[in-house]
Amino acid sequence: MLAGAILDSSGTRILLARRARPVELAGLWELPGGKAEVGETDEEALRRELAEELGIAVGVEFELRDQVVLSDELVLIARWARVIAGEPTAREHQAVRWVDAEELSTLCDEGRLVPADTVWVPELVARLRRA
Ligand code: C5P
Repeated sequence: MLAGAILDSSGTRILLARRARPVELAGLWELPGGKAEVGETDEEALRRELAEELGIAVGVEFELRDQVVLSDELVLIARWARVIAGEPTAREHQAVRWVDAEELSTLCDEGRLVPADTVWVPELVARLRRA
């Protein structure tokens, strides 16, 4: 599973999307992404998923430090990415929003992020503050 930490043009905010399903994750914010298909690289998979789900083209950069083991078959990794074209639109999510370091921390502290994605918050906050 691939998630994208998608940066805005100012470099100070990242994109979060609010999940519509499954019921236990619905309403929580996540770094958007999805699963690689057979024969796809991580980078190709992330570009395809973000085009399908949000209608944006992204440039995919480095991998964030931590990996999250969701189950025997599912490991979640996150990569830094930048919007090249398009305005993010919630096609499969309930909503999308740009958040700065402060807002990301607050959402995390309030338990409004999907649990898996909270591991990346310290690194994301540090990178956004450095921008
Ligand atoms: O995003 P997608 O619907 O493909 O995710 C498949 C499953 O992976 C979810 O139903 C959930 O169980 C798990 N998941 C998760 N945390 C995430 C992304 C996915 O627990 N951030």
